[in-house]
Amino acid sequence: MNARLKPDERIPLSIMPFVDYDTARRLVEREWGIDALVIGGKAYRSEEMTLRAAFLDDGRLAGVAFYRLSGMVALLGAIVVDHGGHGVGTALFDTVVNDARTAKLKKLRAITTNDNFGALHFFQKRGMRLMSLFPGGVDAFRAFKPGLIEIGHGGLPCRDIIELEMDL
Ligand SMILES: CC(C)(COP(=O)(O)OP(=O)(O)OC[C@H]1O[C@@H](n2cnc3c(N)ncnc32)[C@H](O)[C@@H]1OP(=O)(O)O)[C@@H](O)C(=O)NCCC(=O)NCCS
Repeated sequence: MNARLKPDERIPLSIMPFVDYDTARRLVEREWGIDALVIGGKAYRSEEMTLRAAFLDDGRLAGVAFYRLSGMVALLGAIVVDHGGHGVGTALFDTVVNDARTAKLKKLRAITTNDNFGALHFFQKRGMRLMSLFPGGVDAFRAFKPGLIEIGHGGLPCRDIIELEMDL
């Protein structure tokens, strides 16, 4: 991303449907070691989720969102940005919310882990509330998906799953 950007400076973005799942998966893998899209106690292949991407004016990929609209609850599998703090995550989050509202879904559910204070801040600031804690949920998932990171943000062990929800 542009090295001249000041902290918190918002950047012009285009949010678009994206079909290059391999590229999007790489961002997820960079964050968690594997393409871990787990929500509601179920693991999804990335192709089972809708993919939206944020692009900079020069065409570079700035971030991706994986989500699934089915039933009454929209499932946000992951949002990952290339460089945080410039509005990319918010733009992707707003896109998911708008899509889910257009599809007349009633709730949005998202997931994070015990170590990820940034995501807890991000989701709560955007209206989501803590709903469920699954102690050891990451460890259980890691048992059949080796490669999932052991140590997460701030050097904390990554082991518990936290789900958040908001009404749409
Ligand atoms: C969480 C994430 C998607 C936010 O994207 P972003 O482009 O930085 O978001 P924005 O610039 O639109 O908004 C930044 C907000 O998130 C907060 N935030 C993001 N990362 C943070 C961190 N590590 N610590 C504290 N706050 C953080 C900022 O404080 C800011 O909050 P504000 O709204 O009060 O100003 C991004 O940090 C990311 O990709 N994280 C790694 C993957 C991840 O954890 N995804 C979410 C769980 S699926």
